[in-house]
Amino acid sequence: MEIKDEQSLDQNTNLLPDRFETLKELELSCRKRFIPILGKEKAKFLYDFVKKLNIESEKDKINNDENKKIPLKILELGTASGYSGIILASKGAKLLSLDFDHVSVKEANENFKKFNVNAESKLRVAEDYIKELSRIKEEVESYDLIFLDFSKKKYHEVFPFCLKLLKKGGYLLADNVKSVYCMPFKHDILNSRRLKTTLYTLDDDEFSVSKKN
Ligand SMILES: C[S@@+](CC[C@H](N)C(=O)[O-])C[C@H]1O[C@@H](n2cnc3c(N)ncnc32)[C@H](O)[C@@H]1O
Repeated sequence: MEIKDEQSLDQNTNLLPDRFETLKELELSCRKRFIPILGKEKAKFLYDFVKKLNIESEKDKINNDENKKIPLKILELGTASGYSGIILASKGAKLLSLDFDHVSVKEANENFKKFNVNAESKLRVAEDYIKELSRIKEEVESYDLIFLDFSKKKYHEVFPFCLKLLKKGGYLLADNVKSVYCMPFKHDILNSRRLKTTLYTLDDDEFSVSKKN
């Protein structure tokens, strides 16, 4: 998949468009506090990706003669301060983000409010909660995008549940797949017949994009 954006990127900032200018402040504050967040290239990639996804979904609705505006549904594992969550929800999607650290969840929810995005961070152990979600009929095949950015050792464990929760045509995105801990997961995504996967080199790291067919 080729992702292009007409908006030029100022190398000193992540996201310049509209109200997301102030995201730079959050980025700097996280870096000062050693809160691990997406690097600049990944943040820009993710921003462009959700922008394109939202445009595509609007087009589908027009083609299907649907007037109802149903937001895209996104699940994120690993919230931290909500930096990537704000990007994921920046184009109108509804985001549920999970983190097991209560300080992070509190800060992220404050940031989601500040940035006026349709997002919520829940205090949960991600691998446990995703299993719970996958047992709820309404949740199965209901997510347009799932983003993995939590414990690398757990990517492989949550993989089958991600597949179950993703819609047909939905995307599984994962950060840090260059890590040795992600090797079993990388094997999963590259060998699954249900997925078409592309690996991107961003910020000297690997970022995977897998589309469910
Ligand atoms: C790399 S940070 C997430 C960064 C965030 N996605 C961003 O770019 O703004 C990883 C987060 O995952 C959380 N985490 C790690 N293992 C987890 C688990 N098993 N369940 C829930 N949260 C977890 C950590 O507390 C941390 O806040």
